[in-house]
Amino acid sequence: MQQLEDDKPKKKITPYLLYCVATAVIGSLQFGYNTGVINAPEQKLRVFFQNVSSERYGEPFSPGATTMVWSFAVAIFSVGGMIGSFSVGSMVTKFGRRKSMVIANALALLGGALMGLSSLSRSFEMVIIGRFIIGVFCGLCTGLTPMYVGEISPTAVRGAFGTLHQLGVVIGILVAQIFGLESVLGSDDLWPVLLALTILPALLQSIMLPFCPESPRYLLIVLNKEEEARKALERLRGTEDVHDDIQEMKEEGMKMAMEKKVTVLELFRSRNYRQPIIIAIILQLSQQLSGINAVFYYSTGIFKTAGISQPIYATIGAGVVNTVFTVVSLFLVERAGRRTLHLIGLAGMAITALLMTISLSLVNKNENLSYLAMVAVFGFVASFEMGPGPIPWFIVAELFSQGPRPAAMAVAGCSNWTANFLVGLGFPKLEEICGPYVFLIFMVLLILFFIFTYLRVPETKGRTFDEIEQGFAAKPVDSTVPDAVCISKPETQDPAPLSPTEK
Ligand code: GLC
Repeated sequence: MQQLEDDKPKKKITPYLLYCVATAVIGSLQFGYNTGVINAPEQKLRVFFQNVSSERYGEPFSPGATTMVWSFAVAIFSVGGMIGSFSVGSMVTKFGRRKSMVIANALALLGGALMGLSSLSRSFEMVIIGRFIIGVFCGLCTGLTPMYVGEISPTAVRGAFGTLHQLGVVIGILVAQIFGLESVLGSDDLWPVLLALTILPALLQSIMLPFCPESPRYLLIVLNKEEEARKALERLRGTEDVHDDIQEMKEEGMKMAMEKKVTVLELFRSRNYRQPIIIAIILQLSQQLSGINAVFYYSTGIFKTAGISQPIYATIGAGVVNTVFTVVSLFLVERAGRRTLHLIGLAGMAITALLMTISLSLVNKNENLSYLAMVAVFGFVASFEMGPGPIPWFIVAELFSQGPRPAAMAVAGCSNWTANFLVGLGFPKLEEICGPYVFLIFMVLLILFFIFTYLRVPETKGRTFDEIEQGFAAKPVDSTVPDAVCISKPETQDPAPLSPTEK
C-alpha cells in the first residue's frame, strides 16, 4: 500500500515482463481469430455440407437441413466456450496458470487438425467437433490470459496490460476478416487451411511459455513457494528489490488462509463476495448484451441492408476501427480509469444505436443515409472498445483477491459466453421481427447498464488487489446507493495515490 508511494516512478516494465505478457496474449489472439473466422467461408461450408451429403446419401441436404447444420457449427463454438470458461477455475488451481495454458494449446491443435482435415476426410462432423473443441479452447483463453496478465502486472499498469487482452482479440478478428477474403484463404480450396491456421499460434505459444515464469501470486499464495515466487518476480521486475510486491502478496495470502476455499456457491453466499460477483456478471452482460456481436457476426448483412455496395470492405473497416479504438483505450485506461471509460463507452453505444436505427429505417427514402448508417456502426464499435470491450475482461481479476479469483473468473467468463451465445442465436430472429428497429432493444439495455455502472461499479485504477477487496469488505451488507457511489469515487480517498497521469 504505502510502499507504492516511493516506487511510483519505477513502472517496472521490463522487456521480460513484456515477453511474458505477449506470450499470454497469443491466447487472446486465438479467441478473436476463431470468433471472426467463421463468417467469411459461410457459403463454402454450406456447399461442402451439401456435397458430402450427396456423396454419402445420394442427395444433397435440403436448404433447411443445410442451415441447421451450419447454425449448429456456429453455435457449438459458444457452447464449447461456456464449458471452457467454466473449467478455468478448477484448472488453474490444480495445474497453475502457465501449465494450464500449455494444456489448452493441445485442444487448439486437436480442433484445428479436425477442421483442417475435414474436407480431405469428407466429413462435416469433423468441422462441428473441431469448432466445439476450439470453443472450449477459446473459453479457457478468455479466463487464462486475463488472469495471468493481471497477476504478473505491476499495479500501476495493470489496466493497460489488461486491455492488451482485448487488443489481441480485436487483432485476431481483423486477421480472420482479411484472411477470410476469397483472394486470400477464403476460397473453395483453401477454407480448411483458414480454419486450421489456429494451430500455428498454439505452437508458437507452446514454444514461448516454458520461458515464462509461473504466476508469482500462484507460487506464493497457493503453493507457498516464497523463494520461487521471489525469483520469478525479480526477473519480471528486473530488480532484486521486490520486497513490496512480496509483502503485498503475503498480506493477501494471510487473509486467504483465514478463509476456506472459495467455491462458486460461496461466491454468492458470502457477503464479501456477493457484491463484486454481481458487478462482475453484470459487466460481462453489458459487454455482450450491448449488441456488439450482432455487428461482428452479421455486419455484412447490416451493411447490405444499409445499401452499401461493397459490404465486406465495410466489415473490414469496422475491424480496423475496432482495433484503433482498443489502442486508444489502452492509453486512456490508467488515466481516465475503468469506470469512467466504461460509462463513456456505454453512452456512446446507446447514442450510435439510436443513429443506426434512424438511418436504417429511413435509408429507403434517402440513399445518403447509408453513409450515416456506416458511420453509426463505426461509432458503435469505437465506443465499445473505449470501455465495454476491454474492461469487463480484466476487471474481474481486479475485483477479487487470490482466493475467490479462479471461481469468479469462471462464473464471469461463463456468463459472458452464455450471453454471447444468446445474441448470436437470437439476433437473426429478432431482426426478422423488429426490422431496422432491432438496435433499439440494445439501446434500452445499454441505458440500463449505464445506470448500473454509475451507481454500483467502483474504480479500481491504481489500487492493489487487497485495497480493492477492502472496498467491498468494509461496506455494509445491503449497501445503499450513496455507499456504492462513494467507493466508486476513489480519487478522493485512494490509499495508493498513483498520479492519474502516470503511464
Ligand atoms: C470482446 C467480446 C467478443 C467480441 C469482441 C469484439 O472481446 O468478448 O465477444 O467479439 O470483443 O471486439
